Amino acid sequence: MAIVRTPHARRSRRSFLAATAGAAGIALAGGPLRAQSPACRVEVLANEPVGTIAPELYGHFVEHLGAVVYDGIWVGEGSRIPNVRGMRKQLIDALLPVKPSVIRWPGGCFADQYDWRDGVGDPARRPVRTNFWVDAQEWPKNANRTGPESYDPNSFGTVEFVRFCRAVGAEPYLAANLRSLPAQDFWRWVEYCNSPAGSTTLARQRASDGEPAPLNVKYWGVGNESWGCGGNFTPEDYASEFRRFTAWVPSYGVKLALIGSGPNSDDRSWTRRFFEKAGGPGIGKLWGWGAHHYSWNASGGRTRNWFEGKGDALDFGAEQYYEILREAKAMERLITSQWGVMGELDPQHRVKLAVDEWGSWYKSGTEPFPEALLGQQNTLRDAVLTGLSFDIFHRHADKVAMANIAQLVNCLQSLCFAHEDKFAVTPTYHVFAMYADHQGGESLRTEVSAPSIGYTRNERPALLDRVSASSSRKGNVLTITLNHLHLAEALPAEVSVRGAGARNAVAQVLAGESPQAHNSFASPDAVKPTAGSCTLRGDVIACTLPAHSVTKLTVQLG
Ligand code: AHR
Repeated sequence: MAIVRTPHARRSRRSFLAATAGAAGIALAGGPLRAQSPACRVEVLANEPVGTIAPELYGHFVEHLGAVVYDGIWVGEGSRIPNVRGMRKQLIDALLPVKPSVIRWPGGCFADQYDWRDGVGDPARRPVRTNFWVDAQEWPKNANRTGPESYDPNSFGTVEFVRFCRAVGAEPYLAANLRSLPAQDFWRWVEYCNSPAGSTTLARQRASDGEPAPLNVKYWGVGNESWGCGGNFTPEDYASEFRRFTAWVPSYGVKLALIGSGPNSDDRSWTRRFFEKAGGPGIGKLWGWGAHHYSWNASGGRTRNWFEGKGDALDFGAEQYYEILREAKAMERLITSQWGVMGELDPQHRVKLAVDEWGSWYKSGTEPFPEALLGQQNTLRDAVLTGLSFDIFHRHADKVAMANIAQLVNCLQSLCFAHEDKFAVTPTYHVFAMYADHQGGESLRTEVSAPSIGYTRNERPALLDRVSASSSRKGNVLTITLNHLHLAEALPAEVSVRGAGARNAVAQVLAGESPQAHNSFASPDAVKPTAGSCTLRGDVIACTLPAHSVTKLTVQLG
């Protein structure tokens, strides 16, 4: 049995052989591994807190991309689709239980093409603009490309977005345009949002847009992917721009949290060179460093660019299944590696990581409807990917201050699909709902000992940790989440709670016959959580983890 000590795994030769043999069902001396029980042991160390799990780790991202905003969120006040001031009511109702903490808008790549002034004032007089994504190569052939996805009517602007955030209880996070607007427009957008009622021309504009009181927007992104669609800057050039943009921004009593355009996955050079060039005056302005990490390398080789070489959302075999999860697990290396580089120039670690885009990304072909550009189906594989990503964020609760899955609705690893009067939630949605209890909890050190999974990657043997877990405590309630990565086999598990008496435990499970199980408009409830079974003896909870599943244990402490 391989002992997996998270985050650093160490394996002996014997454990490596046992793990590989176990996955293949080979008998070693002492009998076949899967006859051993329990095969997985998890220890929750109640007296070893890691840090508070920022609710902002449960953040979202909405971009003017395909059908995220128009159709997904915004149906218009005159629509026959039930709405709250133009916003899709079914979406708002569905989001309340997942407690969205923060929502990033309006992009993404779109943000560096967006002029915020287009989205204020009388909606009937707002300009129609060509969308950043109009020429994207991923458009399905049968999509109607003349609608708001291509020519944005700007009906959904700043106040509409802030109202959406309020309706679901989230903080707004605005991403400012650094590539194609001057620095002055950045602070004027801050002025429009936050200046006191009646104080400035822009405050009066806001009042005539229906919001006399300041919107008090705290989170501001300064450029997006400035190494790519945000301007193809060098880190040094971006650092100079960042300093120019942030040298003076009025605060109006709001402690602004500025987020810089961080690396593409674990690009250490981008971070080191930015921090060196930005220096004290630049770093001093930063609250968060925005890393982006997508899991899309299902074929095992590096993609040549961002739209080639991806696997399919529904049609996948064992290698692609495990490879996507391996890509997701690379988040842990990204966090520790970037943290190390940031610490070279910010030894007090005043700046935290904001992983403001993450999730799976598959090739086109499984969009819920043609106008949903970059829309993709979402299976139990994505559910497991979500859970293990959160486990990583929890383990590094001291380093990661925000994370935003891409994207909320109809795009990439979405929580929901919404089109005309049709609506469905995805397996990813259910994991957000199951994990919501972790928000604001004290993350506890959680050690996993389980066999590894052996699989074939590019015709060579590869290993993957079989179980991922994390836990948090809020008062007398302990929340433990367990992700079982194995494609096909269940696993008996024992979870020991050390340092706190357990009185009662309840299990909830998200599982299904096949890892390809998913929801659709026609079958919206094919995948949903069910009550699981577990037994508590002393401080040990015993349960069985189904294949490709997410399990939550809620434990009342004495
Ligand atoms: O989420 C889709 C796109 O992915 C975003 O616009 C961009 O920031 C990233 O490359």
